Amino acid sequence: MANPATGALLHMRGDWDPPTGIIPRRELIPMAIGVPDSDTIPRSAILEAAKGVIEAPGDAAFVYGFGMGHAGLRDSIAARYRQDRGLDVDRDWFVLTNGSSGAIDLVCRTLIEPGDVIIAEAPTFMGTLRNFRGLQADVRPVSMDKDGMNIDALEDLIDALHREGRPIKLIYTISTFHNPTGATMSLPRRLALLRLAARHGILILDDDAYGELHFVSDPPPTLAALSNGHGVITVGTFSKILATGLRIGWILGRPEALPLFNNMRFAMGLNQLVVRVVERYMANGVLDQHVRSVRGLYQRKMSTFADALDHYAGDVVSFERPAGGFYLWVNTGELKAEDVWRTAMEEGVTCTPGTNFFPGRADPTGNHIRIAFPWTPSAQLDEGARRFATACRRVRDGDAAAPG
Ligand SMILES: Cc1ncc(COP(=O)(O)O)c(C=O)c1O
Repeated sequence: MANPATGALLHMRGDWDPPTGIIPRRELIPMAIGVPDSDTIPRSAILEAAKGVIEAPGDAAFVYGFGMGHAGLRDSIAARYRQDRGLDVDRDWFVLTNGSSGAIDLVCRTLIEPGDVIIAEAPTFMGTLRNFRGLQADVRPVSMDKDGMNIDALEDLIDALHREGRPIKLIYTISTFHNPTGATMSLPRRLALLRLAARHGILILDDDAYGELHFVSDPPPTLAALSNGHGVITVGTFSKILATGLRIGWILGRPEALPLFNNMRFAMGLNQLVVRVVERYMANGVLDQHVRSVRGLYQRKMSTFADALDHYAGDVVSFERPAGGFYLWVNTGELKAEDVWRTAMEEGVTCTPGTNFFPGRADPTGNHIRIAFPWTPSAQLDEGARRFATACRRVRDGDAAAPG
């Protein structure tokens, strides 16, 4: 009945599923999902924008929208890239999509055949791994460290694949404020990656979901800015800077490349009402003010949580403080991540086991837990760290929550 890819996914644990059979001892503190702080949603500005769209003459917001996506919103997105990201682009460089996951899906559906090789950082975003599995791609991991993808390891992997006679379709990277590690690829590595990929004719897919969310200094220029879009497809989203429920993202690529992807869209367009609401909301630079303010908030939330985790669990876990983004990648040393994950749930804090972020669902780099701090109410961050620390201690002392 189901095709082979769907059949395999059917029996796989969902990446956002809670551990089975665990009854939390207290109301849960959410630290598993990458969602913006609820209090930051600019509700009244969105309401005002929605009113303007609904009251506007004509029915453009209420009929199908074919093509690359609403031109006005693509203009606004292009203007932000020109202003902040060093890219001289216009609307023709953008196709609007259903979030950046929709963008990744579209790019991969267009390019990937079953068995094709995709190289990805290990660890990498579990949602994209699921996408790759759904297309029956052969995902080959490349290691990373605090400066992002390890380019020497990438070169060795490419050489090995060439010896095997395996063409490589795509290199997928989350180059800035990586999910889950928080790492950012250094400028020398960005340049080396571009050179290597160009030499071998391999397309780079740069997932830039978090690139604007730096805490202190700007990250290095994007891969697209460094190559003027040659050999790079970038995906972006309003999910992390504004709200995940909007479901608006985009593919950014050279105009000559985009019709390829656009012709693979069969879903009769995006939600026309929402794209216009976001377009109106973005007028007058309010989004820029909003992004500036959430950067500061997330920096404070990260520091609060990291300080508390050092205080309560500094003897059992270790981690690097990220310079932006949504996540803390916590090394739990000898403590098995899945035990910590289940026990944390019992203690009343959710998190994500590091195993979810590897193609083979095993973490060859040790034991890790991903903590997402932006959605957690500020007042609960300290308590979240305390419960997490209690879970770690319980696992260390042989009192892990039983598998369900
Ligand atoms: C690296 C990365 N890419 C893509 C996505 C998907 O986001 P959306 O489809 O909401 O834009 C996420 C969400 O967590 C992510 O972390």
